[in-house]
Amino acid sequence: MFSFHSFIFPTHYGVLGFWGPQNPKTPTDQAIARGYNIQNMITRSSGKVSKLKSKEQRGEDTFGNQYQSIDQMWKSELKPEEAKMMEAAGIIPEGGIKGRVGDEKQWYKKQIEYWDSQEASINGVLGGYGHVHHTDIDTSSGFLNHFKDRIGTGRALDCGAGMGRVTKHLLLPRFAKVDMVEPSKVQIDKGRIYVESENVENFYMVGLQEFEFQHKYDVVWVQWVLCYLTDADLLVFLKKCRANLVDQKKSMLFVKENVHDTSFYVDKDDNSVVRCDKMFEELFEQGGFTVVKHIYQPGFPKDLYRISLFALVVTNPE
Ligand SMILES: C[S@@+](CC[C@H](N)C(=O)[O-])C[C@H]1O[C@@H](n2cnc3c(N)ncnc32)[C@H](O)[C@@H]1O
Repeated sequence: MFSFHSFIFPTHYGVLGFWGPQNPKTPTDQAIARGYNIQNMITRSSGKVSKLKSKEQRGEDTFGNQYQSIDQMWKSELKPEEAKMMEAAGIIPEGGIKGRVGDEKQWYKKQIEYWDSQEASINGVLGGYGHVHHTDIDTSSGFLNHFKDRIGTGRALDCGAGMGRVTKHLLLPRFAKVDMVEPSKVQIDKGRIYVESENVENFYMVGLQEFEFQHKYDVVWVQWVLCYLTDADLLVFLKKCRANLVDQKKSMLFVKENVHDTSFYVDKDDNSVVRCDKMFEELFEQGGFTVVKHIYQPGFPKDLYRISLFALVVTNPE
């Protein structure tokens, strides 16, 4: 995900389009209209806001395979039966998907193999860009502080926690208890030592697609990990998050992910997908969350993907 493909898709820091909530339609607009303090921080990439629905956006993978849509990609890559039908109908070339993943089991297996083979260090989880760690944590800190009067300080969950970088430097200073979810044994084993705190109570060695909540959380922090979930599993995860917040009116979900300008890109080195903002927003909406603040990470090298940081609240809390 931080691999050399980052260099193929440089970010475009052109004019950022501000998007005012003049005629509130989406849950995000409605949230702004209800008075969330967004202060013009909702930005859209490069002013290139596509009119296409996210499900109509085309995409590409490491091997140059082209996909009509992300749905078509999931089917042709992970659903062998549907892929056969698409081949027969001429939608995809017969046996022609280079480096096809095969199925969901393979999709998730490769991620663990990849992360088990990476150094369990700050530099390792940041793909050799360890020098961005402080900038990343500073931005996340400021972002989280913005909501400090709203959210409780009891318990936070670090999802795809790696070796505990975010847990130690962002979450432990703010929350009484932190739990980590991380499927790579190499990474989580390092995390057990690295966090140096008894306040990290649980180290769940499992992928988010299989994770079952055992606690309720004031904050769920999800950084550079939704890229590993299929759309279907991402939705299930969002719904589980929603059901496992301490207070549906106050607790929050934070998502920090690489984003593509208007389409998607599948990196078959580690089986991850870089989505565009619109895809995330549609998934959040379907999962029962509303974006109340969205910024792009400033101060990172320009050869990396743009990084979106979303603050999410429960839509229509029960
Ligand atoms: C780029 S690292 C980010 C680690 C941490 N969030 C950070 O910012 O320092 C991505 C992490 O996601 C984990 N990961 C990969 N696939 C995952 C999955 N399906 N569920 C949860 N975590 C996953 C990897 O093992 C790796 O530790």
